[in-house]
Formats: sequence, C-alpha cells, structure tokens
Amino acid sequence: MAISDFQLIEAWREVLTLSKLAHGQNVTVLTSASTHPQTLRCALIAVQSMGAIANRLDLQPVNGEKAFSRDSLAYLGTTPLTGNRAAIAALKASDLVLDLMTLLFSPEQHDILKGGTKILLAVEPPEVLARMVPTQGDKARVLAAAAKLGAAREMRVTSSAGTSLVCPMGEFAPTAEYGFVDEPGRWDHWPSGFALSYPNDHMAHGTIVIDRGDILLPQKRYVTEPIRLSVEKGYATRIEGGVDAALLRDYMETFRDPEGYAISHIGWGLQPRARWSTLGLYDREATIGMDARAFEGNFLFSLGPNNEGGGTRTTTCHIDIPLRHCTVSLDDDVMVREGRIVYE
Ligand SMILES: [Fe+2]
Repeated sequence: MAISDFQLIEAWREVLTLSKLAHGQNVTVLTSASTHPQTLRCALIAVQSMGAIANRLDLQPVNGEKAFSRDSLAYLGTTPLTGNRAAIAALKASDLVLDLMTLLFSPEQHDILKGGTKILLAVEPPEVLARMVPTQGDKARVLAAAAKLGAAREMRVTSSAGTSLVCPMGEFAPTAEYGFVDEPGRWDHWPSGFALSYPNDHMAHGTIVIDRGDILLPQKRYVTEPIRLSVEKGYATRIEGGVDAALLRDYMETFRDPEGYAISHIGWGLQPRARWSTLGLYDREATIGMDARAFEGNFLFSLGPNNEGGGTRTTTCHIDIPLRHCTVSLDDDVMVREGRIVYE
C-alpha cells in the first residue's frame, strides 16, 4: 500500500536525526535510472527542512549488459564512480551521501568514507522504508551481536534440515548494519538490522542445506526443494538437489569465476519489523529483499567476495541466502536456537 509524502518525509527526518544531520551540512543525494521518485522527492524536502544543503547527483548505470539480473546487488564490479573524478570530488566534499541508486562497494567508495563522508543506502520501496525506520534499540542489539562475532574464534551452524557448518573466525572484523549513519565515515543501509562477519579465508567446511522456504537473493525465490552445498576449504564445491539447485548452479556459472563459490559473510538477522513472508508479496523487481536479509533469527550467509570485510577476494558474483530454523553457536555459546535469538 502506498504511503503519503508526509509520512515518508517524517521517516526521512527521523533517519537524518539519528544520523546527526546538522544545520548547514552538505548532503548529496545520489540517483540513477532506477531511483524511486517519491523517495527522492521526500529526501530532498527532509534534508532542507533540517537546514542542510541538498544537492542531487545523477550517475549513469553500469554493467547492465554483463549482469543476468536487474537486481542492483546482483553484479559487483566497476561502479559509476570508477574513473569518475568529478563525482568522487562532489561526494568527498559532502558531509552525507544519500545513495538512492546502490553505489555498491568499491575502492572509490572506501576512499570517500575515509575522508569522513557518511553514506546511507536507501533503495527499498517507500512503504518498506517507512515500516522499518531504524531505532536506537536496533543499533544496540546489532552492536551487541557484532561484539559477539568480533570476539569469536569459531561459528558453528546446524539445522534439522541437515546443515552442519564450521567457520573458524578471527581474521576479519565484524560489520554492524543498523540503518543509520551516526559516525563520520560510516556506511549503512536503511532498512537493515543484522550483524555479520567472515570466516577465516579457506577455512569454512561442512554442509549447508538450503531448505524449503529458505530464500535465494538475487533470485528472490523461496526454495521448493532442498539444495545441499558441500563446503570444503572455504568454498562450496558441490551444489546438489533438484531444479532449485540446477537453477543456482546455472546462474553461478554465468560469472565464470571460481571465487564466486567462496563462503562470504555469515551472521544473523535482528530486525523484528522485517518478515520472512514479505518477499512473496512483491514483484521481484520492486524490492532488493531486505526483509529476507534482516528478519529476526535468520542465519544469513553469502557466497562471493570478502574484500568488503577486509579480505582480498573480489568477484562479481554475490548470492545472499537467509536460512530459517538454524542453530548458530559462537565458540560454545548458542546465539540463535532453531531460528530464535537466545542470548539477549
Ligand atoms: Fe551480501
């Protein structure tokens, strides 16, 4: 259901307040062909209503001819900032960038953040943004989970569907995504609400069973028959099952890159306003699936790069996979039992 401009402006004002936007600061709103017009319109008004300076920078899409999906997270690689000195200068000169286009991780973005500019990604439909306006409570929960991930030497994940995964940890720092940017140089994504880290390179091993009802992104599909991933030395070495497994194998083959099969980020969802069932209510091109990534108690893992977490692996392939009903332990402590947060 649609929401009013007034509601979305109020939502933006809340997120900007949480992000400590101050009078006179420079805000650049990044847009492209797929930017939602209501989100843009309301962002510009909210920024100005708080006494800040609102700019708009429209960048050209890239990689459309290489990607096999229109999903903005489906193909990592060069970004509209690659070689784009003028755009980089404008973003570096901004206090806050509102990314309504999905800039994606890049060395250029890292450089902009290092200079103190904050970046907030917001590309879900307006009503999803309004439903999941972040709170300080979200931040506290996500930071607590990130601290546990940061202290752990090993994550174990099991499920009655057959998952039994071991991920030695400690090589990479955790990431907390709580939906606003309240520190200089911070990147975040509205909506979100999860903590993640990465297994030590080449060390994850075991079996992951993607069960019926679990979700593949960017496919935005609920799996209808189990997919079994064999994980050896940090990589999914076999993807077995029925049609769903064949579809995943075929999609991943389009990238022609063995690095795409590496176990990437691992963590769990903490957002009570995100729901597992929401994805089934949307056209696939209308959402990037943040409900699926953030719903409370999921085990969210991914296949692909680890450079965003500080590793050296880059690949254009990136699949996010939230699983239900998993038990996630850090060292000897259970964090999530059969899909329920148990440590709080
Ligand atoms: Fe991911």
